[in-house]
Amino acid sequence: MTPEDLKPLVRTIPDFPKPGILFRDVTTLMGHGEGFAAAVGMMADKVQACEGQAIAGIEARGFIFGAAIAAKLAMPFIPVRKPGKLPVPVLAIDYALEYGTDTLEVDPGAVVDGSRIVLIDDLLATGGTALAACELLRRAGGVVAEALFLVDLPDLGGAERLRRAGVAVEALLDYPGH
Ligand code: PRP
Ligand code: MG
Repeated sequence: MTPEDLKPLVRTIPDFPKPGILFRDVTTLMGHGEGFAAAVGMMADKVQACEGQAIAGIEARGFIFGAAIAAKLAMPFIPVRKPGKLPVPVLAIDYALEYGTDTLEVDPGAVVDGSRIVLIDDLLATGGTALAACELLRRAGGVVAEALFLVDLPDLGGAERLRRAGVAVEALLDYPGH
């Protein structure tokens, strides 16, 4: 399979979560065994190409892809969690949403000083979530080798924002004009 073969497996839902938004739903790709395995395999190849040593995944959908990639490569998996979930002292970062703010947390003990971490998420939109996660991993002592996504919506500017912050960005599928 090629990335183009994966595109039809991503369902598009108009007007979700708001009128005018085309929601790219990756759960249908996850529900296609061969497609899910191919996506995980292609993303794992990119992790190896950038010499990643650990995988970080962003809760929740980033866990699904990130954990599968980490297990395939027998690499450590670092969960970047929504607030209040980790049972140890955490590093936390607040970031802006369209309305209000949100927080991500990581166990600093899960990050080996200087290790090359590949950040995984299902989808890149404005980049706010991924940028906050990169900053958190850096504060924890990691080096973000790359931020890697299944889907990029380039018109929302996330990839550009991450690159301006010095983060290498890759995605398997992009939807210009989303
Ligand atoms: C979604 C998506 C990304 C993020 C992208 O997560 O999975 O993590 O939004 O948006 P951004 O680039 O504008 O920051 P969300 O928290 O909505 O849902 P999830 O918990 O199902 O992953
Ligand atoms: Mg998410």
